[in-house]
Amino acid sequence: MNAALTVPVGLGARAYDVVVGPRLIDRAGERCAPLLKRGRTAVITDRNVGDHHGERFAVALEKAGISVDMIVIEPGEQTKSFEGLADVSDRLLALGLDRGDLIVALGGGVVGDLAGFAASIYKRGIDFIQVPTTLLAQVDSSVGGKTAIDTPRGKNLIGAFHQPRLVLADLDVLATLPAREMACGYAEVVKYGLLGDAEFFAWLEKHGAAVLEGELPALTHAVGRSVAMKAEIVAEDEKEQGRRALLNLGHTFGHALEIETGFGEALKHGEAVAAGCALAFRFSARLGLCSAEDAARAETVFTAAHLPTRLDQLPVTGMNVDALVDHMRQDKKAEGGKLTFVLARAIGDAFTAKDVDAAALRAFLIDEGAVG
Ligand code: GLY
Repeated sequence: MNAALTVPVGLGARAYDVVVGPRLIDRAGERCAPLLKRGRTAVITDRNVGDHHGERFAVALEKAGISVDMIVIEPGEQTKSFEGLADVSDRLLALGLDRGDLIVALGGGVVGDLAGFAASIYKRGIDFIQVPTTLLAQVDSSVGGKTAIDTPRGKNLIGAFHQPRLVLADLDVLATLPAREMACGYAEVVKYGLLGDAEFFAWLEKHGAAVLEGELPALTHAVGRSVAMKAEIVAEDEKEQGRRALLNLGHTFGHALEIETGFGEALKHGEAVAAGCALAFRFSARLGLCSAEDAARAETVFTAAHLPTRLDQLPVTGMNVDALVDHMRQDKKAEGGKLTFVLARAIGDAFTAKDVDAAALRAFLIDEGAVG
């Protein structure tokens, strides 16, 4: 039997555990009960996740004497908006939830970001826990306390750092995830190897297929190692003043690609991250920072997972180089309009490069197939 792993996030008074393993939803009551003052929760979930796991989760809490009210929202990124936030906040108020109660985010990144942000401002802040149900949310968004909504001006622009009290990453729920969603989460897993752990990356080269097929020992190691890396980085740099920015490897290129492709089904976030990481490594190789061999290894691991790595594999072709550079300059991770990228000296050795030369970037993008 596969035991659960517990990864502590060392944030002093706001420290919490990320538990990774099978059947955690069924045993959620015993883990949540110690966090509750009154035995009352509001579980925020979306219709799809609610249909699959909502009742089982509610029963697990009720068995531990915890009362559950479900707040079911529409699935999809459009819910992560001011309107979505107002709706959820109003429903929490109508339930009369107090500060001693607990909000649970049961779902993927959209549910986690919205529920977490609502928790950060509801009655000036209420505890919440994350029960992420996608691989992407398990290895990235549920850990580290970033919460946010989108506005018409961009994604995740309004939000807060609000750490959860507990994260339960139940690996069984991934069995119902479509292969494309698994691959999207896997892109973030690969990112951890690329940015800071060459040994983990080499392990993924051998065992990536088993992770994608949901084999429990491989999945446990992949999620556990990813979460441990994120926990270590967040504990050192909670508010992204320095090292946490390394988690943005592939995201500046990726974000520009997402803007060009309309942030939707055509190119999902994880796919953009895969292409973005491959581009960041090839750009690093071109700048003489890392070897061409390392850039090729990065590409091969994504390709094996059917993830895109090149502009000509994307649903929009002939992207304009000026538009791409402009998106990268305006990326919220850039400071003062300077081109800021996470680049690499080798697999497992990423660093933040500020004020990257625009001419070199343009020449690189044109060689990659962007149109001048
Ligand atoms: N997703 C990047 C971070 O949490 O910092």
